[in-house]
Amino acid sequence: MNGLTADELRSKYINFFLSKGHTQIQGKSLLPENDPTVLFTTAGMHPLVPYLLGAEHPAGKRLVDFQKCIRTGDIDSVGDPSHLTFFEMLGNWSLGDYFKEEAIKMSFEFLTSPQWLNIPIEKLGVTVFQGEGEIPKDDESAAVWKSLGIAENKIAYLPRKDNWWGPAGTTGPCGPDTEMFYYTGETPCSNDCKPGCSCGKWLEIWNDVFMQYNKNAEGEYEPLKRKCVDTGMGIERTVTVLNGKTSVYDTAIFAPIIAAIEKAGKFKYEGRADSETDHSIRIIADHTRSATFILGDPKAVSPSNVGAGYVLRRLIRRAVRHGRKLSDNGVSLFHIAEVVIEQSKNSYPELEENRTFIMNELNKEEEKFKETLQKGEHEFEKLLPNLLKDPRKLMSGRLAFKLYDTYGFPIELTEELAAEKGMTVNREEFDDAFKKHQDLSRSQSGQSFKGGLGDQGEMAVKYHTATHLLQRALKTILGDHVAQKGSNITAERLRFDFVHNAPMTEEEIKKAEDIVNEQIKKDLPVFMETMGLEEAKSAGAIALFGEKYEEQVKVYTVGNSAADFFSKEVCGGPHVERTGLLGTFKIQKEQSSSAGVRRIRAVLEN
Ligand code: ALA
Repeated sequence: MNGLTADELRSKYINFFLSKGHTQIQGKSLLPENDPTVLFTTAGMHPLVPYLLGAEHPAGKRLVDFQKCIRTGDIDSVGDPSHLTFFEMLGNWSLGDYFKEEAIKMSFEFLTSPQWLNIPIEKLGVTVFQGEGEIPKDDESAAVWKSLGIAENKIAYLPRKDNWWGPAGTTGPCGPDTEMFYYTGETPCSNDCKPGCSCGKWLEIWNDVFMQYNKNAEGEYEPLKRKCVDTGMGIERTVTVLNGKTSVYDTAIFAPIIAAIEKAGKFKYEGRADSETDHSIRIIADHTRSATFILGDPKAVSPSNVGAGYVLRRLIRRAVRHGRKLSDNGVSLFHIAEVVIEQSKNSYPELEENRTFIMNELNKEEEKFKETLQKGEHEFEKLLPNLLKDPRKLMSGRLAFKLYDTYGFPIELTEELAAEKGMTVNREEFDDAFKKHQDLSRSQSGQSFKGGLGDQGEMAVKYHTATHLLQRALKTILGDHVAQKGSNITAERLRFDFVHNAPMTEEEIKKAEDIVNEQIKKDLPVFMETMGLEEAKSAGAIALFGEKYEEQVKVYTVGNSAADFFSKEVCGGPHVERTGLLGTFKIQKEQSSSAGVRRIRAVLEN
């Protein structure tokens, strides 16, 4: 498979699973809507959480897709040969259809069959769950692997920290997994060399998760109504090993991006793990690629000081700073983003559609950061003589927080500047100060990070239905131009952003409340139908403009029948069964969200 490209791997994977009766679904946004448990989509399963928890998927029980993902947990390791913040995940799912045996057999066939990836079996090793508490050792998966020819000494039984998977948020579907590894060395270092071996040469390429539990908000594991399979194969990593490389940055995925960085300055990438120049080039490559995908998303955020916007700001600013390390004039991210767009626009047309926005936001943030850097570095230099007097070479976290709070100087940069002078920053103290600041701004903005549809809490589901009623009421009162621009639900409230040019009057607000409460009082049934998108639209269903939908969509109707209804919307659900369950609807606030967009915050009271 030498020379296999990301595009080829993507289409092979999809074709293989289509041939096994799967339906291809659209990957979703990088910014999950209605799920405050995470800032970004971190795995292909994320948009599928409601279905893994039991809802029917309109495309059926066997699904396959590719999904853009962001994981920032390892952001500090980016720059080494293998870590990335943005990556693409291939995935196949069984929603109450096949389970362990069939899932493993399909994985094995795709990996080893000459028609597909043709990986020699000696190169493969696997891990399975070793068992813990009430959850038994996964002998069943191990037996399937053995029956397929994986030698006993290539199967490692590992604990929960390695072989258990759940989404990045704290709640949701989870279960034991079996992971597939590729040996990147020549021959295994000993007879017992298997995944997890200290030689460090086994690289995980695929993970089959056997979803059997839902971890609820109390931390308990409830058995799922039906068992599911969730798998994830990392495109960048798999291309790396199939091309006989040890670094993702040495593949054709990164070659043009690195070439653009080289061209922007007078430095050369040598592919060395120990070169500082290479380290900076890798950071610029990865971070610019991530920033381009975040800005190119239909639900893009702009750089800011909170949530996903803060992560985006951090990615851009870190890339800029490493550009300045390489050359006095820095490396303009603009040209690098162009390469990322060219390279990925076939699979992700949204990058091309949002090209101007991406470029404008990158340029604006680079400019802003230049000013911040000058101020922050100047302040740091002023502090330096005193800092250097500390015999422990420890910079106070409060001081670092002051640089952040007053000048917007990111902690990571303070840490880097400190490290250049042989010092460390008291991170605990900084985190403490940061957290206090965050709690304050969260309570001020009324945001809560609990609840959400990820865990399908009872209140979150009620707020979801209330959001449909509200949207319909607003259209009735203000006009048909009202369209959803954003929705965010927690267990405590709903927040709904919509297109409208003027503040609502008190009468309009009261009217919206009355209309919603009338529907609640009527105790209307809420029911779901599956149909084609065009059919849904012509039946009067509201669909989000610009959102990508499957061919078959779910339509939720609130009303007595498909023809006699109050609200009809294309939506993944879930919803309450009857509006009578909602309580009393009350709008707490109506304010501007951005130009031409209003924001309503509303609660349900008993
Ligand atoms: N959701 C699983 C993972 O990300 C497949 O590893």
